[in-house]
Amino acid sequence: MGNCCGSPDAATAVAKPPSPPIKGPPAWPKPSDGGGAPAPEKGAAGGGPRPAAGPGRVLEAPRLREFTLAELRAATRGFKPEMVLGEGGFGRVYKGWVDERTLNPAKSSTGVIVAVKKLNPESVQGLQEWQFGKPSRNTVQSEVNFLGKLSHPNLVKLLGYCGEDRELLLVYEFMSKGSLENHLFRRGGNFEALSWNRRLKIAIGAARGLAFLHSSEKQVIYRDFKASNILLDSDFTAKLSDFGLAKNGPSAGKSHVTTRIIGTYGYAAPEYVATGHLYVKSDVYGFGVVLLELLTGLRAHDLNRPSHQSNLVEWAKPYLSGSGKLKNLMDQRIDGQYQTKAALRAARLASKCLTGDPKSRPSMDDVVAALEEVEELQQAAPGSRGHRDLPPRPGARRSPYHGSSRPC
Ligand SMILES: Nc1ncnc2c1ncn2[C@@H]1O[C@H](COP(=O)(O)OP(=O)(O)OP(=O)(O)O)[C@@H](O)[C@H]1O
Ligand SMILES: [Mg+2]
Repeated sequence: MGNCCGSPDAATAVAKPPSPPIKGPPAWPKPSDGGGAPAPEKGAAGGGPRPAAGPGRVLEAPRLREFTLAELRAATRGFKPEMVLGEGGFGRVYKGWVDERTLNPAKSSTGVIVAVKKLNPESVQGLQEWQFGKPSRNTVQSEVNFLGKLSHPNLVKLLGYCGEDRELLLVYEFMSKGSLENHLFRRGGNFEALSWNRRLKIAIGAARGLAFLHSSEKQVIYRDFKASNILLDSDFTAKLSDFGLAKNGPSAGKSHVTTRIIGTYGYAAPEYVATGHLYVKSDVYGFGVVLLELLTGLRAHDLNRPSHQSNLVEWAKPYLSGSGKLKNLMDQRIDGQYQTKAALRAARLASKCLTGDPKSRPSMDDVVAALEEVEELQQAAPGSRGHRDLPPRPGARRSPYHGSSRPC
């Protein structure tokens, strides 16, 4: 492995020939990494982030394992359909088992679980978007190495990759609770409604991850911020996945111009949709959409809703500034769990993130600070500890959007 391309700039990194796998213990994420504690790391390497992002750093050199296809085939039991964790625009994600220390394929009884994302080279959203221009093994390798250097408790850890033939597979730490999308929108089965306090914790964690990407030395624009890319670990710590669409940011105030619009309908910022101009603040818009989803329990875009409600932002925006109107918009599964003041602050923050003019949106550092205030406000309320992370009250109405109390 090794693959220590010196430059952090994926676009300009001088690619080295493939080197053998690293010896010694891999950088396996510790459970204690996941708290998303606000304390900044002093003297973080590589021009570390400002405090709001929390304790992240840009590693001098990534410690990524370069897997062979045979190893990943063994780890995932031959990419069996039963091993599929999910499927997205890039391809399928499989469950696999590796040895915690060596990352060699392992039995389920002795190994730890990893998530293996097998990129589909034919997919529109696949390799072509991994690196603009013609992807070659070298550009892919330097991009992966760049991503491997980003280390933060609210980013899903990239453990290694495989780039054999036309295949590209990425190996990530396993997030046992799956995606925020599943928890927020799937009804029934294993998906108990997320409590208000958990939603706040998830929002803060995701905001810290994004703030870190924005403030790291080589600014990274996430570009496809959405609920399915926020994964949850065993204690519901939020971590951002999928850096496949992330690109290094432009210099201050400038924008990236992309030749094709890539993103997800309902989350993409208006300036990006209209012009292809991509700013750091375009991510802030995406964050605002997710915050709105957390407040309302409704998808950003849903054709099953009446047509004037199908786009959540357009529908909900006028209701975000007044507490009376907001109450009807809030997810009824968290009725009785939130302080009105706290919810209103969060809603106003979402509204600011969703401002049409990118310059008027807050920075992600500001967003983190504002959400921490919301959490404090919530926790300061009398008796708030008593309902931390409790399931919804038995009598709470089953909302979704058809609830007659929703504004229409
Ligand atoms: N590291 C991981 N740990 C556990 N489950 C994962 C992990 N990565 C992905 N998954 C599962 O696989 C599913 C598909 O993820 P994937 O990122 O491929 O698609 P997506 O996020 O739905 O769409 P997109 O391709 O636009 O990102 C996720 O919803 C999640 O359930
Ligand atoms: Mg994804």
